[in-house]
Amino acid sequence: MKFRTFLLGLTVAGWASMATATCAAEPIVIKFSHVVAQDTPKGKAADKFKELAEQYTAGAVKVEVYPNSTLYKDKEELEALQMGAVHLLAPSLAKFGPLGVREFEVFDLPYIFDGYEMLGKVTNGPVGAQLLAKLEPKGILGLAYWDNGFKSFSANTPIHRPEDLRGRKLRIQSSKVLEEQMRALKALPQVMAFSEVYQALQTGVVDGTENPHSNLYTQKMFEVQKHMTITDHGYLGYAVITNKKFWDGLPAEIRAGLERAIKESTVYANQIAKEENDSALAAVRASGKTEIYTPTAAEKTAFKRALLPVHKKMASRVGADLIEAIYKATGFDPDSL
Ligand code: LMR
Repeated sequence: MKFRTFLLGLTVAGWASMATATCAAEPIVIKFSHVVAQDTPKGKAADKFKELAEQYTAGAVKVEVYPNSTLYKDKEELEALQMGAVHLLAPSLAKFGPLGVREFEVFDLPYIFDGYEMLGKVTNGPVGAQLLAKLEPKGILGLAYWDNGFKSFSANTPIHRPEDLRGRKLRIQSSKVLEEQMRALKALPQVMAFSEVYQALQTGVVDGTENPHSNLYTQKMFEVQKHMTITDHGYLGYAVITNKKFWDGLPAEIRAGLERAIKESTVYANQIAKEENDSALAAVRASGKTEIYTPTAAEKTAFKRALLPVHKKMASRVGADLIEAIYKATGFDPDSL
């Protein structure tokens, strides 16, 4: 641990000297690692950030984007960011628990957001800003929220009612709220890195999973899942983060260019998210490999009844006050069923 801190100190010193050498011929290299395909909301937004960042810093910065877990997998990427081996990430909000910041798991509560508009009241408001600030004691600066979308369940057997998932092994991200969500369905949650999901589904290590359509499609999971049900039962989105010492050590004019690029790529990310997920759903449908089921109103209510108790159960983990603040910001009434 001490050695790690020492190493980090060295790296930060390295950045500081690199950052002061603004007129050096060599550009500052910013590595942006992520785990999804390029052709997804996050993948496209990362590429847009690269384009804008290089433009706004007039080539003083070179952004290298590593998609599809080519550089790091889920857990490793956060460690690498803290060590300074990578500079930008956009992990799913469900993946901050292992870092010791549990509050982001509030976004995983089933049915807490009924669409992007409700979600935006949190991510674009004071609650979203307060959450990002919780990363700072970990040496991490939260720069923005990037949307992905609402999740559907998939498996090799039909899913019409909550009981249909009973006893099924379902892959989840590393979130205790998602674990509790699956337990509420009497399913068996299995935490697994994103890069391993396709193979786990293919070989039957797990029976099913949950995803926004863009991930189901671009990771080809639809090829190994016969059934998918549009439950929209939970949200999956991202926090764009950087190493605070690295960011603060950049020359002011470079940082300003990068901040502008973050701002504009965020607008872009959140503009394309719904469209990307809709077209991924259409592509899955067109493939004919996965039967897509839209639940009836009564079936959807049954999913809500089964899953809403997770809010109370997880209040002690994510914070009852935080849940209340979100209800207040969005107007969500958990007793409205
Ligand atoms: C997952 O692990 O399912 C997602 O977090 C992947 C992603 O980054 O969208």
